Amino acid sequence: MSTSGTALIRYPRLKELHQAIQLCAVLSEAAGEPQCMALMGVTGAGKSTVARTYAQAFPRTETNHGARIPVVYLETPSPATIKSVAATALRQLGDPRAASGTLWSMDARLVHYLRECQVRLVIMDDFHHLFDEESQRALGTVSNWLKVLIKESNVPFLVVGLEDKIRLILGANPQLARLFALRETLEPLAWDPGRVETLAAFAKFVQYAEQAVGLPLSEELPRAEWLHRLHTATGGVVGHILNLLRQARAVAQAAEPNATHLTLAVLSLVFRQRLQEPLRPQADPFQPGPVPSAPPAAPARAAERKRDTGRQPLTEVLSTR
Ligand SMILES: Nc1ncnc2c1ncn2[C@@H]1O[C@H](COP(=O)(O)OP(=O)(O)OP(=O)(O)O)[C@@H](O)[C@H]1O
Ligand SMILES: [Mg+2]
Repeated sequence: MSTSGTALIRYPRLKELHQAIQLCAVLSEAAGEPQCMALMGVTGAGKSTVARTYAQAFPRTETNHGARIPVVYLETPSPATIKSVAATALRQLGDPRAASGTLWSMDARLVHYLRECQVRLVIMDDFHHLFDEESQRALGTVSNWLKVLIKESNVPFLVVGLEDKIRLILGANPQLARLFALRETLEPLAWDPGRVETLAAFAKFVQYAEQAVGLPLSEELPRAEWLHRLHTATGGVVGHILNLLRQARAVAQAAEPNATHLTLAVLSLVFRQRLQEPLRPQADPFQPGPVPSAPPAAPARAAERKRDTGRQPLTEVLSTR
């Protein structure tokens, strides 16, 4: 399975979230009513990758009794209206005339297809499109329509998107919020020298990322220092790490087709010329000298804090290549 030209990295939190999503479908069946979930996080955290790869594990099949679509994945259109969202969902369900008919008939077809195709979960990515930037309000009619659809179809929904907006959308509609009792946040990877397990997890992720990108970091710096600088540059946001390494590979290979490593000079160039804008305000951490201080770390997840995996000595944890 590939995500934008690099292999999927199955880091622990991704696996944990896949299990949480699975549980949402299982609990819904057990409870006889939909137990919906919200998956939230900052841009680049890797939310869509979690959701898409979950859906890919449950592909559509054709049977003598019609199509079976265990998991439907759709991107919430923008602007989000009842009609645009319903048409997008119908298209994903294979309705040949997805955008046609009255709202009433679209609704009826939607409920019909969800049942006929034995859908067990609908994933709505970019759910924050239900927040209107201009008026700074949630789109109440779409939220209400969704609440009715979930109740009528009895299928659980997973909504995915930017945390602050999702909280505002659910906060504006208590009845919809009640359906979404399960909430998960995909935090950036932490780097907390006081918790050696965070360093180990980050080291492991970077190791996989280097393999996915196909070029390792050079040996110009001790490994621990490389990792610290990478974390400072990216805030531990998975998408920023991958983006930085992918671009560095492109730059390294453009300069030298047989490049064998990603060097500090290349990382510095990519950071300053291609990445600094979205990651500002930050000094280039790939310049020689002390590592510039990073912005405050994202709050550690309670579960991670409780877990005690810090048994390995620090030097051992960080020396893995
Ligand atoms: N587990 C992973 N393995 C490999 N690449 C990943 C993984 N997670 C994320 N990426 C890469 O990081 C980038 C950002 O990921 P993704 O699009 O999933 O983030 P997002 O949280 O949905 O961001 P946004 O809120 O902007 O939509 C993508 O290029 C994706 O390919
Ligand atoms: Mg996304």
